[in-house]
Amino acid sequence: MRTKAIALSAVLLALAGALALDLREAGHAQTAEDTPGVAAIPFTGDEVVLPFVIPESGPFNPEEIEIENNQAIADWFRSAHADAAAEAFRHWDEDGEIRPACSVCHSGAGFRSFHGLDGSAPGIPETPVDLGGVVDCQTCHNPGLSQITEIRMPSGVMHPVNGVEASCMTCHQGRTAGVTVAEAVGDLPDDSPNADLRFVNPHYATAAATWLGGYGAAGYHYEGRAYSGRFFHARPVASCVSCHQPHTLEVQTDSCSTCHENGNPEEIRLARQSYDGSGDTSQGIREDIRNNAALLLDFVTRYGAEVAGTAIVYDGGRYPYFFTDANGDGMVDTADGSPVAYASWTPRMLRAAYNWKLVTADPGAYAHNPHYALELLYDSIADLAGPLGVEVESLNLLR
Ligand code: HEC
Ligand code: HEC
Ligand code: HEC
Ligand code: HEC
Ligand code: HEC
Repeated sequence: MRTKAIALSAVLLALAGALALDLREAGHAQTAEDTPGVAAIPFTGDEVVLPFVIPESGPFNPEEIEIENNQAIADWFRSAHADAAAEAFRHWDEDGEIRPACSVCHSGAGFRSFHGLDGSAPGIPETPVDLGGVVDCQTCHNPGLSQITEIRMPSGVMHPVNGVEASCMTCHQGRTAGVTVAEAVGDLPDDSPNADLRFVNPHYATAAATWLGGYGAAGYHYEGRAYSGRFFHARPVASCVSCHQPHTLEVQTDSCSTCHENGNPEEIRLARQSYDGSGDTSQGIREDIRNNAALLLDFVTRYGAEVAGTAIVYDGGRYPYFFTDANGDGMVDTADGSPVAYASWTPRMLRAAYNWKLVTADPGAYAHNPHYALELLYDSIADLAGPLGVEVESLNLLR
């Protein structure tokens, strides 16, 4: 459970959104008649009623104010989407406003502007967006969402969407694709360090990208390899909210056991073969993915020191995550007090590190698309194995 200091604005926003939804969907306004001691402030415009309800006079008795959607509000309020204190919503505080490109996923207002749900032309907002926004009710409860028929993924793939799915797919798609990496490395020689290469970060919580697999093309795809497409799972598991409660965002694990022997997602496994060389088919598929990811990071690290010629250190707490360790002491080098970003990337190393980060940027990859995650990890490991002098077969991995 998160501890949070919710900004009052977020609370008001929630209430405003909730009641507006109530008005639109249920077709009635909460009025002074409904709730004793409470006055509804009528909207001065023509069509809608302003969604604010405030007590006529004190003392303020919350229990007397009936809010129809209070379960939804309470659930949402304790979710990451409402966490106004999170880095994902506070990152721009010093700038005083949210950059247009970032606002699309980091504020309800930016999201609405992007999809033209606020009356503006669809596309990245033309001006920065005010601070303080979260993923509010109106992000998902917006009649305009049903008009959106497809979402553009970072690879350029246009994915057809239905209803509220448009919202999850917009924000949880990451910001890069395999082509971003392919373009960055061009036709530079595979194993030559190049100081112009920078780490390509797929961004965070990239569930939708993993879910669409090879068809969404978020990963770097190796030549001559085929990749599993979207993970269709099994009906009725068909969208994000088949598993995630849309307000708490929690995975509704009781639903898993209708089909799986085990309702604990981390222990679920159908695969009868072992992917990680352990031979252990009693562990959840999540464990195979974690083990292969750990092996891949180990290979990237070895490759840095042995092939690229400069040791590399991963620090998950600091952007851009991969740093130089020129003296090989296992510590991040610093210059003028700042960590030195890794600058000896070779194309081969960059592709593998990108796939590693993509798979690990999605803690639910094992449920969103285990096949695709395993394929990306295997191919990246196999690609590094050659220059490291490792026989892939000796690792007993499966793709
Ligand atoms: C396609 C949607 C999308 C866009 C565009 C986007 N982000 Fe994000 N970003 C996300 C999501 C989703 C998360 C949530 C990750 C989490 O914390 O679970 C996130 C998380 C973050 C975080 C928090 C990371 C952490 O460690 O908690 C930062 C910082 C961030 N983004 C910066 C940016 C910046 C800067 C931009 C614009 C240049 C940007 N984002 C654009 C979707 C996006
Ligand atoms: C991330 C998207 C998202 C956000 C944000 C969100 N909702 Fe929902 N909400 C949904 C989805 C999806 C459903 C449909 C659930 C279903 O069909 O089972 C839903 C259903 C509802 C329902 C119907 C009853 C229920 O709980 O299933 C109410 C009421 C509701 N939301 C109110 C709100 C309010 C109020 C807020 C803001 C405090 C909010 N929602 C924020 C996605 C969202
Ligand atoms: C406007 C962008 C946006 C939309 C729309 C959106 N999300 Fe998110 N989501 C975020 C951001 C940003 C975070 C990270 C918030 C934080 O760090 O507190 C996040 C966090 C999450 C988390 C992580 C919860 C946790 O405990 O860390 C889940 C799960 C999630 N979203 C699922 C969904 C689903 C399912 C939908 C669609 C019904 C959806 N999101 C729609 C931006 C969005
Ligand atoms: C088959 C069920 C299932 C489906 C469908 C599904 N998820 Fe997940 N999701 C999970 C599981 C299981 C986890 C791992 C939960 C954990 O680590 O707490 C997870 C984790 C996540 C996380 C990371 C949460 C965290 O703790 O940081 C996000 C974000 C997320 N899912 C979003 C989505 C989105 C967006 C979609 C639709 C594109 C989606 N999920 C579809 C089961 C599912
Ligand atoms: C309607 C039945 C059904 C429900 C409900 C269901 N699953 Fe599945 N699940 C399947 C089927 C069928 C597969 C195999 C799909 C495939 O590989 O193409 C699968 C595969 C998986 C896998 C991959 C296992 C492996 O070894 O490859 C995971 C992880 C998983 N499901 C998690 C979940 C979680 C978490 C939930 C609950 C939130 C859930 N499932 C709910 C039917 C279901």
